[in-house]
This record gives sequence, C-alpha cells and structure tokens, in this order.
Amino acid sequence: RRALQLGGSAGALASFGLAGAQLTTPTKAKTSAQSSATPLPLHIQRARYAIADQPTDDLVSTRPDGPPPVIRLKQGQPFAARVTNTLPDYTAMHWHGIRLDNAMDGVPYLTQFPIGEGESFDYHFTPMDAGTYWYHPHCMTMNQMAMGLTGVLVVEEAEDPGFDADIALNLRDFRLRPSGEWLKLWTARGAARSGTFGTIITANWDSDPIYEAPTGGLVRLRLAATDTARIYKPYVAGVPGQVIAADGHPLREAIDWPTDKAPALLSPGQRLDIAVQMPRVEGAYVDVMTAFPGGPRRLARIRATGPSLGRELAELPPLPANDVPEPDLTNARVEDLVFGWTPEGGAPQNGYCGSLGYTFWSINRKPWPGDAADPDTPGAGPLAVLNRGESVILRLRNESPNAHPIHLHGLVFRPLRSNKRTLPSNWTDTALLLRDEIIEVALVADNPGDWAFHCHVIEHQKTGLAGYIRVL
Ligand code: C2O
Ligand code: CU
Ligand code: CU
Repeated sequence: RRALQLGGSAGALASFGLAGAQLTTPTKAKTSAQSSATPLPLHIQRARYAIADQPTDDLVSTRPDGPPPVIRLKQGQPFAARVTNTLPDYTAMHWHGIRLDNAMDGVPYLTQFPIGEGESFDYHFTPMDAGTYWYHPHCMTMNQMAMGLTGVLVVEEAEDPGFDADIALNLRDFRLRPSGEWLKLWTARGAARSGTFGTIITANWDSDPIYEAPTGGLVRLRLAATDTARIYKPYVAGVPGQVIAADGHPLREAIDWPTDKAPALLSPGQRLDIAVQMPRVEGAYVDVMTAFPGGPRRLARIRATGPSLGRELAELPPLPANDVPEPDLTNARVEDLVFGWTPEGGAPQNGYCGSLGYTFWSINRKPWPGDAADPDTPGAGPLAVLNRGESVILRLRNESPNAHPIHLHGLVFRPLRSNKRTLPSNWTDTALLLRDEIIEVALVADNPGDWAFHCHVIEHQKTGLAGYIRVL
C-alpha cells in the first residue's frame, strides 16, 4: 500500500509531524497526521531546481532544493506555522480556501502587516473543512508566485475515506528559457488580456513526472491549479474514475467525468479531486492530461505497481459533506459586482507589496490597489458590507472579453445560475467568469472580517481587480 514517487523532485522527503501538519512527497502511503506544539517552520527562501533543462538558481520556495511541500492537516485538529521571510522583499502567507479567523488570512494591510526580511509571522487555525486547498503569498504576489511559491494544502477527512494512494499535483507554469534563465515574469500586454503564460508546464515542478500507485487500487488525485494565469483543461485517459470534490468540497451535484472531448475547466486557484481505479495489470500507466491549444499535453502519469488489489470505484463511500451553512434564497439580498476594464488610468499604490505600475482592470468601475486594499486609505472601502449571518446573492458580471477566476477569502459560496451555461451548485471559493458571463452565487456571511475578493489571474489582481468584502 505504499506509493512511491519516481519523478525527479526531491526523492523521499521524510514525513515529520509538527503542529498537526505532515510534509510529504506528492504521493503518500496511508499514515495519519500527527500533532505537537511546535509550529511548522516555513522559511521563504531562494531555491535551486532543474525545471528547464538546466537548474534555475533563484526560484522561491520554503526549502532550498525543491517545491513547497504538500502540507497535510487533519480536519478539526489545530495547525500552526511560523512563516519566516529570508528574502529582501516583503511577503505574507495566505491559506487559499480555508475558512479561518480573519487575522490568520495572510492579506497585507487587510489582516496583517507584511512580513519583512528576517521577520516571522505565526499562523494558526483549525481547519473545519476537509479537502484540497493551497497556500501562496499575498504580497509581492506576482514575483513570488511566478518564481515558485505555491504549495498544496491537504486537509484529511476525520474518517479515512478508503483510498490506496493519494497523489497531489501542483499544476503550474514557469517562464524559463531552456537554459534555465527567467523570461520576464509578466508583460503589460498579458496583464491587459488573459495574463502572461509560462513556457514550461509542470506538475510539482517536474515536466511529466511518473508516480506509482498499487495495481488495481483506488487513487485519489488532487489537482490544484496554482498557476498565475493558465486555465487547465484536465482529464484522465483510459480508466474508470469519477470527480469527487471541487475546490475542496465534496460534490453536492455530480460533475461529468472529464474527457478529451469535454475536459474539466480548472482556472487559477481551483482544485479538483478525482477518484481513479488503477489498471489491473502491473506496469500499466494512467495518463493525467490537459487539453492545450496545440493538442493534448500530459501533466503526469501513474504507474501500476505490485500485485493487483482488484478494487472497484463502487466500493468508495461518498465523501462526507463539509458543514457549510445553506443560504436562505427567499430572503437573500443581492449585491452587484461588475468586472471590467478600468475607466481611468493611474497606478494605485500598494505599499510594500509591489506594484506592476499599471491599472487595466476594475471592480464596480474602479481600479483597486493590487494584492489587497488598505482599509485605512481614503476611497478604499469595502466593495460590499454584509451583516453577519445574512444570506446574500452576489451577482458577478464580467463586462470584459477575458475570463476571470473570481476568488473570495474566508467564506464559501455556490453558483445559482449563469447566463451562459449550466453550473453545478457545488461549494467553492473561486468562480470562473467567462467572457460576458453573469453568474449569481449565494452564501451565508457567517465569518466576520475584511475578506479579500479578487481575480486569481495575478496580473489582473495586481492591476486593479482586487478589492474586499466586509462581514460585520
Ligand atoms: Cu489564492 Cu487572495 O488568494
Ligand atoms: Cu484565498
Ligand atoms: Cu481576471
């Protein structure tokens, strides 16, 4: 029942338990997360790794020689991390999709002062929801994310859901020459359109890595789109499988099994959990693919290893639902939020968190200042003020021809309807708004605080498309 990694990254990173967390390679055998009083140390630092043909020296990670690790927590068990910044730039760490106390959300100015060079910040929270989440900086976001600082955060169910292997794929691009040198991380042209795409597509910093899982076993694949711009179109070829969770949460409404003809849409910030039944023949491969402009690309593959376990998808009990409050739609108030180009120029200041020097985008016809708005700046008030406990419908309207994955911190919502397509009503923290699309989503404003609300195409976030919603 042990799953080993064959890909180039890191070999066997020893698992160690710290404050309810466990760091692992992307695949793991069944173990339980441990707990202690010591916060998990996360040192933001320069890293060296061969993503292209030659090693790149100035990646950003939490270890010197590979990607930020998968952090595994247990639902309902306290977690603590001490984030130490060793870079000359400021930073702050955000736990994407986790419902937590506002003070732990890692958004500069809105929830904390940015972490300077040599400084640390202690984060602690108890994850109430199981599922696949991720972590990334929310200050100097463009530079630090593009250079590597994105990691998968897994919250394991309180009860073991019965898989034989669990493989997390951190999907992202890097903008590198084959020689390993950086290309410009972003461009004004990209920022004003769909973002600037990478040159090398990776899973866990590797091109087309191979993982192992038991022959005939049941694998949980956790896909996390942590790229700054790319919308993945994933599917798994040639084996029985089913989608079991989206954006962390078990499905309320089924999602069709993605295929090459009808792949899933996984935009920046989103996650998809897939159950796959491994082939019954040892040595056979399962291909994790993405549709791509020039034809399909393989993201990773999984090799069947050992004698067949002969398991069936039907043996899997449904994942237990997370405890999300159901909005009262008959009494819900509607808040309009309009996403478009900016009506006026002028780069808003973004304190210590870096500005791209442009504004191209707006929410409610106003450009907003980058990684987060400072609530103390005149004119930078909340986009909406919600009363604690009230049910609200957010009407998200895209007035631009570009797609925007719109993300809300601290709360989860579910789509009600779209003017363009049928959307499953699954809980999420990130809704992809297609060209000219209007999506209504519903939520209960049960978590007080100022919650960042932004497009997860980071060049859009940094050039106007980032505000916040206040829950009183
Ligand atoms: Cu994934 Cu505001 O972030
Ligand atoms: Cu977030
Ligand atoms: Cu956008």
